[in-house]
Amino acid sequence: MSADDVLRPVALVVDDEESVRESFRLVLDQDYDVLDAPDGARALEIVRAHHVDVVLLDIRLPEMDGIEVLERLKALDDSLEVILVTAVKTVRTAVAAMKLGAFDYVTKPFEDEELLALVRRAVEKRSLEREVTFLRGELARRHDRDEIIGEHPEMQKLARLVTQVARTTTTVLITGESGTGKELIARAIHHRGPRHDKPFVPVNPAAMPEALVESELFGHEKGAFTGAHQRKLGRFELAQGGTLFLDEIGLLRSEVQAKLLRVIQEREIERVGGTRSIKIDVRIVAATNTDLKRTVAAGTFREDLYYRLNVVPIAVPPLRARIEDLPRLVDHFVRRYNHELNKHIQGFTPEALTLLASYAWPGNVRELQNIVERTMVLVEGLFIGPADLPLDLTVAPGRSGPGQAPESLRMDLNQASDRFERIIVQRVLEEVGGNVSEAARVLGLHRNSLKMKLSRWKLAGSEPEVPGAQ
Ligand SMILES: Nc1ncnc2c1ncn2[C@@H]1O[C@H](COP(=O)(O)OP(=O)(O)OP(=O)(O)O)[C@@H](O)[C@H]1O
Ligand SMILES: [Mg+2]
Repeated sequence: MSADDVLRPVALVVDDEESVRESFRLVLDQDYDVLDAPDGARALEIVRAHHVDVVLLDIRLPEMDGIEVLERLKALDDSLEVILVTAVKTVRTAVAAMKLGAFDYVTKPFEDEELLALVRRAVEKRSLEREVTFLRGELARRHDRDEIIGEHPEMQKLARLVTQVARTTTTVLITGESGTGKELIARAIHHRGPRHDKPFVPVNPAAMPEALVESELFGHEKGAFTGAHQRKLGRFELAQGGTLFLDEIGLLRSEVQAKLLRVIQEREIERVGGTRSIKIDVRIVAATNTDLKRTVAAGTFREDLYYRLNVVPIAVPPLRARIEDLPRLVDHFVRRYNHELNKHIQGFTPEALTLLASYAWPGNVRELQNIVERTMVLVEGLFIGPADLPLDLTVAPGRSGPGQAPESLRMDLNQASDRFERIIVQRVLEEVGGNVSEAARVLGLHRNSLKMKLSRWKLAGSEPEVPGAQ
């Protein structure tokens, strides 16, 4: 079977007369996989079970008539293209049917060429529409996925830096623990810059077999080594004009480090097995979760390469150092997974948020995202409470990140509960539009004690003059 066979579009012929089905099959067999059905019920069954691109539907069928079948098919899959088949005298019905979403109609008897042209157009329309829908989804997703959530001063500083650096083509080195959002930031730098319509090419040499790293990065010529049957472009060339994201740079072997240094200095590459230099115009964003300075000191990372990469350093703080951002991140992920899982969850209860805020998050934002998703998959109600959270969250003190102690948890219990109280109060205040009396009511506090807390935390709230308010 060739690739063409696999990709043949599928046509479904629905007609109660065997001979008509047969004549359709004769014409369409060349270019399509043809399925057929003698009546509407069977046609619907087929569409439920198979991939179908286009349906040729007789208007006059026993039991369920063509129009009804059309409506039901469209309800099953709106992108399905349906061509109605009619005798001349029912043309009017066919016109009406087109209002219900049929693609077009043919009258019996038909010319082979006319039928083929029609079916081809229907299939093209369907694949175009699918592509547009897909691209729209990608665009929306890209936009949403690019959003860097964080109000903590460190994150605000980082956001400003991202905006500034995006306008340039300077090399950027992003450091941060695993799951802190390094790749997200790299993508944001690319998408917010003047080259956003050029490729963003991520590459993680540490995840590749050693023998392939060089050819992946720089490409190879045909015959460069056993198995190099064809010339292959490397990631540098694929990123031409755009951004190359070099992930986990700390784990690069020393030979590759040397080559990379040369490429950055000379701004040109040579494919493996090649003799010609190729000019490269690529912005490099590198990321690492190891302390590169330390690897330099230990002699496993070249100092000259380190300085070449570390032109603009961006350090991403771990989640536990900006735990105030947790409720916002949770909201962000709730919105995303409501969309993806088709749910209508309103959010996490204050108690659940408090619990989340007291965890050390060794896996940072990615771990939080996974927990939100996992919990949302399982929960039936509208709110997520402490009981819905994974048990290990409620008992584990949290491991520390690589080489770091969970600094934000080094506080006494009063300090800790004050901090979590503040998170909850802030959130409730936001929800009630800053109205202190309303927030006090929701929180079950006297308005004056809430005001005292607010002034201690230097938080502001508004107090509309309501007659009779105490
Ligand atoms: N500030 C943030 N706002 C919104 N989403 C975030 C934020 N930080 C991280 N994420 C999300 O968390 C997940 C992990 O982020 P990302 O892959 O960028 O982390 P990373 O630092 O590259 O991790 P690793 O070191 O493990 O590769 C992604 O789905 C990302 O969208
Ligand atoms: Mg990453």
